[in-house]
Amino acid sequence: AQSSGATGQSQPAAGTTQAAAPALTVLYGSQTGNAEGVAELAAERATGRGFRSELLSMADCGKKQLKSLERVLVVVSTQGDGDPPDPALECYELMMGRKAPKLEGVRFAVLGLGDASYEHFCQTGKEFDARLAELGGERLVDRGDCDVDYEEAAEAWIDRVLETLSGDLDSSSTDGAPAPETAQTQTVKAPSYSRKHPYMAEVLTAQPLNGRGSDKQTLHLELSLEDAGLDYLPGDAVGVVPQNDPAHVDELIETLKLDAESPLDEGRVLREALLADLEVTTLTRPFLKQWAEWSRAPELQRLLGEEARDELREWLQGRQIIDLIEQFPVEGIDAAQFTAALRKLPPRLYSIASSRAAVADEVHLTVAVVRYETHGRARNGVTTTYLADRIEPGDRVPIYIDHNKQFKLPDDDDAPLIMIGPGTGVAPFRAFLQEREEREASGDNWLFFGDRRKRNDFLYQTEWLKWRQQGLLTRLDVAFSRDQAEKVYVQDRLRERAEALFTWLEAGAYLYVCGDAEFMAPDVHQALKDVIREQSGCDAEGADDYLRRLQQEKRYLRDVY
Ligand code: 2AM
Repeated sequence: AQSSGATGQSQPAAGTTQAAAPALTVLYGSQTGNAEGVAELAAERATGRGFRSELLSMADCGKKQLKSLERVLVVVSTQGDGDPPDPALECYELMMGRKAPKLEGVRFAVLGLGDASYEHFCQTGKEFDARLAELGGERLVDRGDCDVDYEEAAEAWIDRVLETLSGDLDSSSTDGAPAPETAQTQTVKAPSYSRKHPYMAEVLTAQPLNGRGSDKQTLHLELSLEDAGLDYLPGDAVGVVPQNDPAHVDELIETLKLDAESPLDEGRVLREALLADLEVTTLTRPFLKQWAEWSRAPELQRLLGEEARDELREWLQGRQIIDLIEQFPVEGIDAAQFTAALRKLPPRLYSIASSRAAVADEVHLTVAVVRYETHGRARNGVTTTYLADRIEPGDRVPIYIDHNKQFKLPDDDDAPLIMIGPGTGVAPFRAFLQEREEREASGDNWLFFGDRRKRNDFLYQTEWLKWRQQGLLTRLDVAFSRDQAEKVYVQDRLRERAEALFTWLEAGAYLYVCGDAEFMAPDVHQALKDVIREQSGCDAEGADDYLRRLQQEKRYLRDVY
């Protein structure tokens, strides 16, 4: 709840007169809570150093808040194709638009969170950084661009900014009072499991959810939390810390002509590090640049040039590290150099498919196993094939809980829910319904589910049908895309049910979308717009406003990936 309230929360610095302490705003735009977590840490550290720090969500930041900034640290993540997080959209549009306020003399620094395997890595951070300068702001330190393992880099950046700002403290501290080193906010939090210190959860069950004839493989996993003291709510995700495929690691080592047992730092040997610590599949642009330097291949240098942007994007499609090192061999790279060029193996997040109220000390996941072929080579999703092929009941899997503050059930048990979740996007809605069943929540529930074929791919079919029969699920609409000649998707069902859908929205329904971010979520968004336009008689802009208002009221929530 740190982000609630129109102006965020001020954290007074103990020991100094409040008015004297320089003000510092930590403004964050966060989709799932990572950027928010970093912002909280920045605000804590700033308070500890004697600033009057204020934590402010972009969701609560309008013109008035922007105008009153003196010092601001912006922490913002980037979604998929270079987009701002949903809750940051309006603030982003205000900042980038012609009506943005002048920010003459505002001292600022920007930290971007992102994923270097995307072309528009940290795009939103870059845009905020450039725009703040354009509006007259004074940059304190260079922008930080953090890749998926952001924690250490983020901490270092925070310390760098606060160091740069420390001069402001001397000039404003009243009578040379020492900075309050023992500010309450600096106390170390109780250790809990994290990506760095995962909990080893025992696998209780691993069941296929698809029928025999399906061309998809989706797993239902039940993990034990036993006495881990891990808590989660419906809408949260589990981070799984995977291991790479040993066969793939061996192939890499062979292609590189390296010795699997080459010693590295921290007592690891090459093969171990490639199995457990480093990402060996996804080909990121930073790695490609490093390889181009080592190989001096003119073709790679050309692909990295400004003019070849589109060509590079195309070339990267379906290619991984193994393809690059095979096609452009490099002589003389040793194990230490090679591993230094790789990024850490990031954990993968899976929306939780259970509610503690129903399953107590277990957590359930719905995992679509990724296998496909590109450029004549079989590709296996790192984590999904780890779970599907190399783990069985009785084994332990390293996990942690990734809380998602954005994607939560309403407090109001009477509020109606509309849930749209094709494929594994349905996972959190199983959790929602389990929770609502246990709470005996009286609100209506409507689920839209889609997958390829009813016979094989109706995930959790018996559970939905049972809940439908019992009345917990008020309405159930399914779209099986490949059961007929023409594709039918969840958004087609939304359009067919336009009248009822709009009635539900007008009655205060909460709208949830989970699943594919690239095609499904934008298509569903468009369908919702069409429904609202048709039913309310407004124009396209009116429908946009309607959905934006829902978003602001936190009644249109997405968990898309
Ligand atoms: P398809 O694979 O037959 O095209 C879960 O993956 C379901 O989502 C499948 O039925 C899949 O259909 C469908 N799907 C694919 N693209 C979609 C889109 N743009 N919007 C909604 N559903 C989509």
